[in-house]
Amino acid sequence: MSVAKKEYKRVTVKSLVDMKQNGEKISMLTAYDYSMAKIVDAANVDVILVGDSASNVMAGHETTLPITLDQMIYHASSVIRAVQRALVVVDIPFGSYQSDPKEALRSAIRIMKESGAHAVKVEGGQEIKDSVKRILNAGIPVMGHLGLTPQSIYKFGTYTVRAKEDEEAQKLKNDAKMLEKIGCFAIVLEKIPAALAKEVAESVSIPIIGIGAGNGVDGQVLVVHDLLGITQEFNPRFLRRYLNLYEDMSNAISQYVDDVKTKDFPNNEEQY
Ligand code: KIV
Repeated sequence: MSVAKKEYKRVTVKSLVDMKQNGEKISMLTAYDYSMAKIVDAANVDVILVGDSASNVMAGHETTLPITLDQMIYHASSVIRAVQRALVVVDIPFGSYQSDPKEALRSAIRIMKESGAHAVKVEGGQEIKDSVKRILNAGIPVMGHLGLTPQSIYKFGTYTVRAKEDEEAQKLKNDAKMLEKIGCFAIVLEKIPAALAKEVAESVSIPIIGIGAGNGVDGQVLVVHDLLGITQEFNPRFLRRYLNLYEDMSNAISQYVDDVKTKDFPNNEEQY
């Protein structure tokens, strides 16, 4: 189905609210390095998330917990150098904002100053309200993240769907309202029932971006390596793979190895 789309030369936090009001869905993807960010930006993705999923995808850790603030700043500055259109949002990593609002603000300022990013993202609701307020008071746009929040994986114990029970669903609804009230510009809802995500999206004026949260929200986010099929082990129901790059890349690399071994590469035209 085609949708009337306004052209945005540069996506801002305000453009995202306009998109929600105009019924235009928001596209968001991760990127962690210059080359990938260039491709993602040129494809007109609205928001690029320098996610702390870099901890899994780029560094091979089992969880997002080990990645550091310095490492996130390194990834974010590589992405920023590539981007001309998208809004670039950077995850504040685990341990850099939960202990107190002053530390949260210091971390957010480092990300904005040292990488040139446009906004930050944090995981959680009421528990981190004071930290979020402190960051917002400094003029830094904040995106919230509720539902399955991977930085709390050891509290949850598993990566299964969150907020299926009434109590957790009610807390999530309250947290979304609270994040809107204090001034967050958008919220990611991860792996929650589609009906609940839709209800939240309809109850707030800021954009709700879903991952595993159904189609009733204002936009979608995926990890770009999952969408491209570079990662192989991760196969949740919500994931749509658009390519099997793992196979294509490994075939190409095997072919290169063969060509070197058989002295086919380089040929006469490929030398000076
Ligand atoms: O770090 C990340 O990639 C994320 C998305 C899954 C929303 O937070």
